[in-house]
Amino acid sequence: MAKILTILTIPNQILRKKSEDVSSKKLAEKKLQALALNMVKTMKERDGVGLAAPQVGENIRLITVNTKDGVLILFNPKITKNSFAKEWAEEGCLSVPGVYGKVRRNKKINCVYFNISGEKKKISAEGLLARVIQHEIDHLDGILFIDKAKDIQKADSINL
Ligand code: CO
Repeated sequence: MAKILTILTIPNQILRKKSEDVSSKKLAEKKLQALALNMVKTMKERDGVGLAAPQVGENIRLITVNTKDGVLILFNPKITKNSFAKEWAEEGCLSVPGVYGKVRRNKKINCVYFNISGEKKKISAEGLLARVIQHEIDHLDGILFIDKAKDIQKADSINL
């Protein structure tokens, strides 16, 4: 049974470390498979659109994304193509609670990754999905959306 993990928040320094690639041998291990499934459960429970492993205390290159067509688990995600066009949109982050700001991201991306079975995959994404993937990959490099955001706003403290 997957379990709900604790999400680290700023200023925890794990969020600021660069994460390591996952080897194909490691990817097949039960421990990492369980971590990925626990991340999916945690993301859904906390109503997140995405989650990166450093947010649950693991500095490895693993992200999960909640799309309208289902959940994606991406090991070693790497953006291979960026659209010239960029756009601003509001973001938030479970590791920076109650804070929102506008971030400029590439409108469309191509991303290669390994799925939970260790198969190499490619995804073309645009709009929100492209944005979420870029936000989560930033986490793997120790970058938080507040580093890039403008018009940063703090939600009412009563509004959790
Ligand atoms: Co985040």
